[in-house]
Amino acid sequence: MHQVQDARFRGDPPDMSVTEDELFDRAFAARRRAYARYSNFWVGAAIEDESGAVHVGCNVENAAYPVGTCAEAGAISAMRVAGGARIRRIAIVGGLADVKETAFCAPCGACRQRIAEFADANTQILLRDALGAVRRFDLSALLPAAFGATDVLPISGEER
Ligand code: THU
Repeated sequence: MHQVQDARFRGDPPDMSVTEDELFDRAFAARRRAYARYSNFWVGAAIEDESGAVHVGCNVENAAYPVGTCAEAGAISAMRVAGGARIRRIAIVGGLADVKETAFCAPCGACRQRIAEFADANTQILLRDALGAVRRFDLSALLPAAFGATDVLPISGEER
């Protein structure tokens, strides 16, 4: 019989929180899978979901430039496919492949909105540069006065 892998159907999963370093390691590993032949800007993202599971994504560019997707979008999709629902922490790393990574890679505006859909006041957005310095943000710092689900949904029903 088909094995259900969805976290929501495995009962109460143990909280297997990763350390911040481990989350960044996963983001850096994902970054190595980036397909960034047009911009040469390689990005990796690692999400820790509400159960402590980690989901990663990388940017995937396209010859039709606007069709390319960001690392955060890939990680969010991976989270949802695996049965994760909410973002507890997201680590993002990025930079030009052939330049020593010294800068922080802030999520683009669209990705701030993507993150917001699955974030709350406790969600941490974590950036790290090549020297190991970490910057930590909450969503309200990156996306103040955000447009969100409560603006669209007439009543707060069960999340789908
Ligand atoms: N990029 C991301 O993957 N995430 C961001 O938040 C910033 C930008 C990607 C998109 C594009 O493939 C490359 O970085 C340069 O913009």
